[in-house]
Amino acid sequence: MKQGLSLKVLVSGPCELDFSWYGMIQDKLLRRTVRQGARVLDVGCGKGGVLFGLSGQIESGVGVDISTNDLASAENTRGKKDLRNLTFIQANAMKLPFPSNRFDVVLCLGDVLSSSNLYGYEESVLSEMKRILRTNGTAVYQGTNWEWEYRLTPYWTFFTRQANGSFYFHRTKRRASGLEIARDYKVVSKSPLHQWILQQKWPKSPHDRTSLDVIEERPVPPRWLEFQGRNKYRNYTLRSLRRAFENGGFYNVEVFAYGQTYDIVSKAGLLGAVEHSKPQLAKAEAEMAFKLRMGSGPWLFLVGRT
Ligand SMILES: C[S@@+](CC[C@H](N)C(=O)[O-])C[C@H]1O[C@@H](n2cnc3c(N)ncnc32)[C@H](O)[C@@H]1O
Repeated sequence: MKQGLSLKVLVSGPCELDFSWYGMIQDKLLRRTVRQGARVLDVGCGKGGVLFGLSGQIESGVGVDISTNDLASAENTRGKKDLRNLTFIQANAMKLPFPSNRFDVVLCLGDVLSSSNLYGYEESVLSEMKRILRTNGTAVYQGTNWEWEYRLTPYWTFFTRQANGSFYFHRTKRRASGLEIARDYKVVSKSPLHQWILQQKWPKSPHDRTSLDVIEERPVPPRWLEFQGRNKYRNYTLRSLRRAFENGGFYNVEVFAYGQTYDIVSKAGLLGAVEHSKPQLAKAEAEMAFKLRMGSGPWLFLVGRT
């Protein structure tokens, strides 16, 4: 360890659990919820994977996203598969370019409401989702259940590695309300911090995570960091997600939390610990999966009606 630098690497965390359950749960829920012949809008569709899976059972599907890169990929796959009932359009979830009462089902999957550009505008997105749905239409939302994060790690500090070989340092402060404030820094090239990070072994995971979680036992000296910016995120727990949709005018709101990681971590006797043991967590996860017969993961799914 270089002088003035005291960082402890977190070898593994709950985020390295096997998340393949997620796809299974999502498929089951969507198959149950999206009726044959439905007109579906996917808000924040990314590369379009969910609509490709549903195209055989729906009348039509429209994917909107703010990212042109993701949409280009979605459009490319759509062309190759020759799926003529799907369309992909660039749009902001805050202002959907469709008339009211246009869709039977609106999907919003993958923590879209927690995107930093939507911070403070979550209500507008929910109001748009409600507007474009017909009466008795259905909304499905999926996000991460952040409850465990707040209890275990009110501060989250990690490095990311860029394709060009540079490193970034991120300090995130989490409040119990679900507010996250992230400060991002570039690691000064050739600084002792840069030398230290080059020597570390990075975690391997099914998702090829390119981040390394650490604890700052002493704050990293500011001269080794170049401040890049600050972002705010709104995350959800079971309760706050339900409240947001109910306040947005959705009724019959059901929220499913499959084996919240918080439960798993608590079952493994690791609550309050900063470092997690992967075998203990994996064992607790397997037990939880068996109990629920559904798999586990820190996932929240919500179904609401208009
Ligand atoms: C984590 S990805 C989820 C992608 C996909 N729904 C899935 O489940 O695989 C979040 C997506 O939200 C999109 N997004 C973020 N802010 C948005 C906005 N204001 N309007 C539309 N899409 C947005 C991002 O571009 C990204 O594709």
